[in-house]
Amino acid sequence: MRTGEPYFAQTGAGAPAGQTGADLPPWGETRIVGKPLPRVDGYERASGTAVYVRDMALPGMLHGAIVRCPHANARVKNVDVSKAEKMPGVRAVITGQTPAAKIPWYSGDKGPTSWLFDAHCRHEGEEVAAVAADTPEQAQDAARAVSVEYEVLPFVVDHEKALEAGAPAVQEGGNRFGEPSVYQRGDVAAGFAAADAVIENTYHTPTVFHTAMEVHGSVVQWDGDRLTVWDTTQGVFNRRIELAQIFKMPLSSIRVVSLYMGGGFGSKLEVGKYTVIAALFARMTNRPVKIFLSREETFLCAGNRPANRIWLKAGVKKDGTLTALEARFSGPAGAYPSWDALSSYQISDLYLCPNVRTEEQNVFINAGKARPMRAPGFPACSWALEQTMDQLAAKLAMDPVELRLKNIPTVSQIEKNIPYTTTGLRQCIAEGAKTFGWSEARRGSRGDGHVRRGTGMAAGMWGWAGEPSAIVIVKLLADGSVNLNMGASDIGTGTKTVMAMVVSEELGVPLEKIAIEHADTATTQYAPDSGGSQITLVCAPAVRAAAAAVKAELLSLAAAELSQPAAALRLRDGAVEQTADGKRVPIADLKSLGERQLLIGVGRRAPHPAGKTALPFVAQFAEVEVNTRTGAVKVLRMVAAHDSGRAMSPLTYKNQVIGGFAQGLGLAISEQRVMDRQTGKVVNANWHDYKIPTALDVPTSHTCLPIDLHDTECNTTGAKGLGEPATIPSAAAIANAVCNAIGVRFFDGPITPARVLETLARKGA
Ligand code: MOS
Repeated sequence: MRTGEPYFAQTGAGAPAGQTGADLPPWGETRIVGKPLPRVDGYERASGTAVYVRDMALPGMLHGAIVRCPHANARVKNVDVSKAEKMPGVRAVITGQTPAAKIPWYSGDKGPTSWLFDAHCRHEGEEVAAVAADTPEQAQDAARAVSVEYEVLPFVVDHEKALEAGAPAVQEGGNRFGEPSVYQRGDVAAGFAAADAVIENTYHTPTVFHTAMEVHGSVVQWDGDRLTVWDTTQGVFNRRIELAQIFKMPLSSIRVVSLYMGGGFGSKLEVGKYTVIAALFARMTNRPVKIFLSREETFLCAGNRPANRIWLKAGVKKDGTLTALEARFSGPAGAYPSWDALSSYQISDLYLCPNVRTEEQNVFINAGKARPMRAPGFPACSWALEQTMDQLAAKLAMDPVELRLKNIPTVSQIEKNIPYTTTGLRQCIAEGAKTFGWSEARRGSRGDGHVRRGTGMAAGMWGWAGEPSAIVIVKLLADGSVNLNMGASDIGTGTKTVMAMVVSEELGVPLEKIAIEHADTATTQYAPDSGGSQITLVCAPAVRAAAAAVKAELLSLAAAELSQPAAALRLRDGAVEQTADGKRVPIADLKSLGERQLLIGVGRRAPHPAGKTALPFVAQFAEVEVNTRTGAVKVLRMVAAHDSGRAMSPLTYKNQVIGGFAQGLGLAISEQRVMDRQTGKVVNANWHDYKIPTALDVPTSHTCLPIDLHDTECNTTGAKGLGEPATIPSAAAIANAVCNAIGVRFFDGPITPARVLETLARKGA
């Protein structure tokens, strides 16, 4: 990741002064925030009554299906749709020859290099044509009946081979995606010369997939010149911007809605071709059109977390002080990357080190695109950095926890030494170790049979402080109920619940009386994408500010009506309460509110604090069991200590941490895209052959330990980000635990049974 660049559209300027609640004092004792309350939409989500986009059916709605290139690299010579057009139920067909479909889709330095339907398909699964029909089955049958003639071209699917002389060029300008990105401070040669111990190794992490529960898709409808899109997206406002650019329409004529969303992890931060194709069909047929990808299509076309090759060299003094870190990263960005997704950020910032040099090189290959995925680049960086820290510790005969505690910074070294607002890195490591029982576990037995036990840990940080723009409206109605109006999508993380808790905290209105309008560009206000672990720290302060504005007005009405100073009143359990004697008047009984019918508060996010950076930190600990006969790695227990500022909602917090760890577990031991070198095709593009952890694989003992530092400089709620930190060090902690168990280190992941057995055999163990 290029330092400082956000990986999604950054459109919001800092909020204007006023309406930001910047003058609100930090919460003292809270009554709702910080309490383990169930999700406000838990029943709908768990019972199936929630209407996801996939569930939608509009009158007259057509269904689209997409014809995809079966080759890794091919030129489309001819597309014959004559048979498909005559099939039952078929209403429209689009190919690269359709004038309205001549839409630029991917641009290099010199302008567009690829189109919605490109005559040059650069990876398996690239879109070639599409069909709309009355039923999904008719559309799929007709798509299969489209006959395409290809000129199959040589391809390259290995990013290290792609840089060799004579490799097939994926994009016309060659296979380097961007110049090498270099970061440097101090003098690494001098740093290594001053070191007492040096560790140098090359690590590989696999390409893995987001595999969100909900596949990608849209329902699209035109009403004259107005376009409505119900989309599986992490952010309706930025999707609206993209659609406005594609169709050259005013923002005001486009409505994007995403009321329930089933996970994205970064694969839904960008408008999909399926959305644009559905919009073209809808205009051609004057009907609503639905297109959803199949599970298999998502593996080919919905993005991935690309493999990383990381060479890392580290030097350390006898006392554990780091003297130098040097690293070279490379990885396959696919044919049309939406993000480079390499990140050496933690090497430059997590530990104190005066001499650092990092280099990142992204490489085009003939495969599906690299996309942001939950802390893009960071888990792979942790895999290399945190295993290196353990090796340094071993060389110094120092405890790995102690080595890390020796090197804790209080400033952001990568950001010219500006201070962090808060850093709980030390507490994460020290308190996590205590809760885990680290010292006892490290002294304990590894076992002596064929099943060995071991423990490992890894620390981490996230490098993005959020886009500080969001506008929220809170409305108090005459009966004391509340509408919370905010633009953010709840992508499964519990955003609605957290924000409702903030309203409830400020207004003393119970959660059941708060209804939420959200994620609809026609009825709600700008919020950034639900990504980058930013929504709580960006939107919750705006929600608080809006609720506080309503509160101030309500208390002043109540003060006049009850002939009390406003300062002598507070809001509790749906009533105005006199602080002195507890005398209560239900909000609904206030005559002055009845006369007005409605109070409105508008809240905005204040800018980030000047001259500081607000980032979250983490340390995770794992105990594993390794079966040296089967090669199976089982994680028995984990402790995850997180400094994400104030823990706003302990239940959704724990959900994030367990989910993040589970994704890290997949990266560590089972998940990997397998590409066939003969054909350039993905051989495990389905949920049977691609192994994500299941409920049987995650540890039954998991402890989520929030380091509950309220970061009141970061924002008025004290919260920092959590979603991504939750997965950053997980795989590395597991790899360190495996090494502790069997004395063999796995530089390359995932640590599958086959890899364990092969490695043990090679070691003659
Ligand atoms: Mo993301 S990679 O959706 O924060």
